[in-house]
Amino acid sequence: MSTVVVMGTQWGDEGKGKVVDYLAEQADVVVRSQGGNNAGHTVVVNEMAHKLQLLPSGILYKGKTCILGNGVVIDPGALITEIKNMQAKGFDTSALRISNRAHVILPYHQLLDEVEEQARGAFKIGTTKRGIGPCYMDKMARVGIRIVDLMDEEEFSAKLERNIAAKNHLLKNVYGVEGFEYEAVRKEYLAYADFLRPYVADTSYILSKAIKADKKVLFEGAQATMLDLDHGTYPYVTSSNPIAGGASVGSGVGPSKLDKIIGVVKAYNTRVGEGPFPTELNDEIGNQIRETGHEYGTVTGRPRRCGWLDACVVRYAGHLSGIDYMAITRLDILDELETLKLCVGYKYKGEIIGEYPASLKVLAAVEPVYEEFAGWKTSTCAIRKYEDLPLNARKYLERLSEVAEIPLGIVSVGPNRDQTMILKPLF
Ligand code: GDP
Ligand code: IMO
Ligand code: MG
Repeated sequence: MSTVVVMGTQWGDEGKGKVVDYLAEQADVVVRSQGGNNAGHTVVVNEMAHKLQLLPSGILYKGKTCILGNGVVIDPGALITEIKNMQAKGFDTSALRISNRAHVILPYHQLLDEVEEQARGAFKIGTTKRGIGPCYMDKMARVGIRIVDLMDEEEFSAKLERNIAAKNHLLKNVYGVEGFEYEAVRKEYLAYADFLRPYVADTSYILSKAIKADKKVLFEGAQATMLDLDHGTYPYVTSSNPIAGGASVGSGVGPSKLDKIIGVVKAYNTRVGEGPFPTELNDEIGNQIRETGHEYGTVTGRPRRCGWLDACVVRYAGHLSGIDYMAITRLDILDELETLKLCVGYKYKGEIIGEYPASLKVLAAVEPVYEEFAGWKTSTCAIRKYEDLPLNARKYLERLSEVAEIPLGIVSVGPNRDQTMILKPLF
């Protein structure tokens, strides 16, 4: 198998970065296909935590080609800061390649993200305010500015001038805030262009060549299934497609070339931002999970909402992405619990429903059906073989696998590389 997609099954922060980092050792190329610096992937290497937002996790290894595909939205200032930070820590960033078709986040996108959220009032989404939604809006509206435009002073200046005029009008007349000065933004971004120029390429060809040469390619998902624009809890979603299909569109690699799909499943549920969350725990157990797991957002520092693991969500993710194996993460965070609950179905108006509800009204009214499991009350951090996990932990995972209809592939019991058990060869 030469290509592996690693994607989130829940509401993000499942530990995709850790799983990608683990698998990246064997990969030649690591690709991001969607999202932007709304993602926050923490990877721990030799006790040192690296927080990555745009750079693929493969950047932590020497000699791996790291690609930001056409489906990614790029804030050049944020990307340059991240590149410089990694260089200052001694990492080599020379093998980074940025798609010339990726879209550029501009200052008006960030401001629009902020004022649109304010205007939503009680219906706010709880975005990361990085300008992600407004940038994808421009892409869809066919007025976006791409990296290829940014590299061409004349093209960039003309597009920016038109866009700034339109956005300033909107900002002033609809939201009552000051807009941006064309020349200042132009100068700032042309300086970014000079810095980024050596990294820019037509990345779909790089990927195509790598796949033809039987190199190993790893696709690093950002966000997750329930935040997917089409299939998540719309409108409380992000503006891209984190499901496995997004890897194909967002990198320019045909779907027939995606060999294995790995769905990352946190051993419990979290959600940051607004929107439905059927198994949310607004009680002591929820607090305990948040504190034990340090469940605070990497990007915004917001406390994450915590709840029981929801096998309905994982099953839905498996169905949407054709997940071959699950990578379970953070099992160790549950080590001290007396009892655990696993949601195995949703009841609506007294009946079990088979399909994941599209209507948020229905989703708000569903009643999770739980199965209870005895805790294992012992540390799993040092366990390296699946058979050595406590029986109660295995029972919990095996029931999840049964309800979600996806086999177990990886189990992770800590943030470090060695705290990983491989049940199935994935590459
Ligand atoms: P991502 O956005 O999906 O990459 O996930 P985040 O990086 O936002 O959040 C996952 C956090 O859990 C990171 O701090 C990881 O270092 C950490 N992590 C990953 N796997 C494990 C695990 O099995 N156990 C523990 N305790 N931490 C883990
Ligand atoms: P990783 O890759 C968790 C959430 C935001 C908000 C919604 C829309 O680290 O798993 P956006 O700024 O994208 O328009 O916000 O999506 N969100 C994430 N939640 N993990 C992420 O990324 C997220 N990226 C966006 O909190 O609810
Ligand atoms: Mg994250």
